[in-house]
Amino acid sequence: MSHATIHKEFPVLFSEEQIAARTAEIGRQIDQDYAGHAVVLVGVLKGAAIFLADLARCITVECTFDFVAVSSYGKGQRTSGAVKMIKDLDQPIEGKHIIIVEDILDTGLTLCFLRSLFEQHKPASLRIAALLDKPSRRLEKIDADYVGFHIPNHFVIGYGMDYAERFRNVPDIRLMPPDYPELH
Ligand code: IMP
Repeated sequence: MSHATIHKEFPVLFSEEQIAARTAEIGRQIDQDYAGHAVVLVGVLKGAAIFLADLARCITVECTFDFVAVSSYGKGQRTSGAVKMIKDLDQPIEGKHIIIVEDILDTGLTLCFLRSLFEQHKPASLRIAALLDKPSRRLEKIDADYVGFHIPNHFVIGYGMDYAERFRNVPDIRLMPPDYPELH
């Protein structure tokens, strides 16, 4: 198996069809919850870019995008613990209905940091949409308002999620084998 296609050996956790169906359900829920309002989807780069792109197309209420980038895992599977803003919001969020769109809620450090930062800017409302939730890994008390799937404590790649910046373009979500040789 070549370097470029090694992920095909990783077990599929969620297929493209499963992800699309669940994303459409979340879109419908957002449409109901925000009927008559405009929302700002704030994607957390880079992992949430693909989920945001698909979720946005399942939403019919008025919707704009913004993106932030925070420091995250670096090269490995472990977080450093410290969260730092690398790219801030482009537009003011005061008085707006904000939905933070994240690929995966893991320890909760990233979303806790962003939530308290954004709350200082007095949005009309602030919710979180996370495609995946690993509740067993939580270090901060935080929940997402919209969750695609709850998953056990496994490292996953694909559909925007990376290992050392690779595999973001894999169209489904796959389990990273713990014995993958390049992990060490
Ligand atoms: P948290 O701050 O620990 O909640 O981490 C959130 C971020 O860690 C996510 O946005 C991902 O970028 C990254 N992350 C956590 N778990 C995984 C995983 O299984 N695969 C890829 N990235 C992950």
